[in-house]
Amino acid sequence: MSVDTLTIPAQSVAQSRIAELDINNIEFGKIFSDHMLVADYKDGAWQTPQILPYGNMSLSPATSALHYGQAIFEGMKAYKNEDGDILLFRPQANFNRLNISAERMCIPALPEDIFMQGLEQLLRLDAAWVPPTAGCALYIRPFIFATDDFIGVRPSSNYRFVVFSCPVGAYYGQPLRVAIEPHYVRSVEGGAGFAKAAGNYGAALYPAREMQEKGYHQLIWTDAKEHKYIEESGTMNVMFVIDNVLVTPAVSSTILAGITRDSVLQVARDKGIPVEERRVSVEELVAAHKAGKLQEAFGTGTAATIAQIATIHYNGEDMDLPAIEGRQVSNSIAAELDRIKTGQTPDQHNWIYKISL
Ligand SMILES: Cc1ncc(COP(=O)(O)O)c(C=O)c1O
Repeated sequence: MSVDTLTIPAQSVAQSRIAELDINNIEFGKIFSDHMLVADYKDGAWQTPQILPYGNMSLSPATSALHYGQAIFEGMKAYKNEDGDILLFRPQANFNRLNISAERMCIPALPEDIFMQGLEQLLRLDAAWVPPTAGCALYIRPFIFATDDFIGVRPSSNYRFVVFSCPVGAYYGQPLRVAIEPHYVRSVEGGAGFAKAAGNYGAALYPAREMQEKGYHQLIWTDAKEHKYIEESGTMNVMFVIDNVLVTPAVSSTILAGITRDSVLQVARDKGIPVEERRVSVEELVAAHKAGKLQEAFGTGTAATIAQIATIHYNGEDMDLPAIEGRQVSNSIAAELDRIKTGQTPDQHNWIYKISL
């Protein structure tokens, strides 16, 4: 099957639910677009996908993903430009990462045409759900899970790939208070930290809740061996501006290689901002803060693009960082990325996949 020729049968809804959507007051993750894409893997091959009305799926109680966690997912966004075209931001990168996760979790690789053509046809059908409003987007959730109805720990023989979407409002997140995690770990070398595997998130809930109870929005994971080096945050990579240099932990087998991370670093390089991808120790951050050189800290991820960090807690002390308004590096990169995603500036890195209606 080539990327251009896959024909996906679609069963459209009789009546769209779009009227239920209050575009000025979208609650994240609660209202789903009319349709979903579904493709099954059976008899050793991915089958032709289909587009169905969004709705419940019938599953055996023995569905193996529910017991043994063979489940992976992606998160991406689509925007509208001034002409009403749909602009998907770096879907190829999400496709590549999905298959990296698939390999680690013994899930058969998904063919590119099912992902790309599936997305395109799904979005054409649900075009009305891509909000045209500034700051809003359609959040898209592709995922694959094991569907054998079998109790026993072994890779499943059957899988389901699904894509559904939900409109999301502008992200007016307050600046974050984060705490450096001194005890729990998300990921170890040789583990599955680089994969977007469902179990990574389930196991992170307890430590995150503990930090929230102490008054912090999120924690920052440190390396599993010594708790000395910064890894990433809940659903974000983390970056710092130290003495006018943009510094971030290098990607490794223990960190999810964020697509926003990569995009932020590229835009920084385009702007001539010095960038360092390397190990970042907690000690270095504390020393930089003491010396007045820790100018900015922020998370990068699909949800917020850039989520500013106001305070970093470590070892009983809160390090309060300079005011958000004065953060030239992150604010200028965030604005540039917004312009790229909504087609307001030339797409020099071919990040945009345009669907003209
Ligand atoms: C653990 C983790 N790290 C980082 C990220 C940021 O990745 P991206 O920029 O591709 O959304 C995410 C979100 O997907 C995540 O779940």
